[in-house]
Amino acid sequence: MKTKITKNIFDLTPYQAGKPIEEVKRELGLKEVIKLASNENPLVSVRVKNALKSALGRINRYPEGSCFYLKEKLAKELRLKPANIIFGNGSDELIDVIVKTFVEKDEEVLTSQLTFLEYEIISKVNGRKVVTVPQHNFKYDLKGIKNKINRKTKVVFVANPNNPTGTYVNDREVMDFLDGLPPNVVVIFDEAYNEFVDANDFPNTRGYLNKKNVIILRTFSKIYGLAGLRIGYAIAKEGFISFMEKARPPFNVNSLAQAAAFAAISDKEFVLKSRKLVLNEKKYIYKFFDEMGINYIPSQANFILFDAGKNTISVFKEMLKYGVIVRDMKQYGLDTFIRVTIGKPAENKRFIEALKRVLLKKGLTPCANRNCASVV
Ligand SMILES: Cc1ncc(COP(=O)(O)O)c(C=O)c1O
Repeated sequence: MKTKITKNIFDLTPYQAGKPIEEVKRELGLKEVIKLASNENPLVSVRVKNALKSALGRINRYPEGSCFYLKEKLAKELRLKPANIIFGNGSDELIDVIVKTFVEKDEEVLTSQLTFLEYEIISKVNGRKVVTVPQHNFKYDLKGIKNKINRKTKVVFVANPNNPTGTYVNDREVMDFLDGLPPNVVVIFDEAYNEFVDANDFPNTRGYLNKKNVIILRTFSKIYGLAGLRIGYAIAKEGFISFMEKARPPFNVNSLAQAAAFAAISDKEFVLKSRKLVLNEKKYIYKFFDEMGINYIPSQANFILFDAGKNTISVFKEMLKYGVIVRDMKQYGLDTFIRVTIGKPAENKRFIEALKRVLLKKGLTPCANRNCASVV
């Protein structure tokens, strides 16, 4: 007898993660490979490493199920109550928790096109319908999204800054969007890259927590440098969090992740250093793109989306041969674009040199600056 797979899963295109370093080394016989493909922090906090060493002796025990101590610490840091916070196995898991908590079978999830694919994938795994609205100039169109809200709309996901474009919606746009929304609609602001933002008009969504149906998603995977441990959190009014707690699996955040996040919150120096690195190096990469005449989208996050021209897939593959993993955007339907994560200075230099070699070799890009060959 044939085992029947659910339709939700049978029809699903799964999330494609960036290529792992070890895989590229193995496949291409390379010794040194750098990965600038998954928007991770290239640095690791020493305080976190030390905290992990002392937590290792407790891995025989199940973790603290509700992240009690970590919640208290973060609540203090954010000047909220512990009851306003829920932790997840990465903020990815909390997207699932949100869909399970709020969206009934006949209700819909609304979001933008060209955004974090997990909103759509997780909703579909749960058998929920997703409606997506086109962007304007690589930016969320909140007005267009608001126009699409109907009786069935239950949850709206807004990645701010957005992945993969790096663009953001500002305080005015968010205020207008939230004004007069139907009371049944819950808006999720996914602020995974919030700590890298330097725009003055970036919205303070926390101000809406008790006034509107708003949930904010944050993560320890980006500026805190804990992507490998999987821990993120949501903040919302107590009424929302208490129901989300029912939908989360028990022991969903492992004890090492909890210990690491606890230490990471205190390591302010590390956060500052990571932010400074991204802001400085972004300018360096922009300068290179400008010199090469490469179009890119100015970013508020730790990655940049740029136009690599017609033969993007071959550019992506050639870059691999130089030991540089970036992210092609085919899954997002952006055939000519590549997303690069900002790494350490030496890694960014290597990315620039490799991209330049590949593009010049292929004659693929107009070189705005006649002296650009000297950059290599
Ligand atoms: C917008 C956005 N939200 C959420 C996530 C997932 O983060 P986490 O590692 O906490 O699951 C990512 C990861 O790249 C992201 O880009």
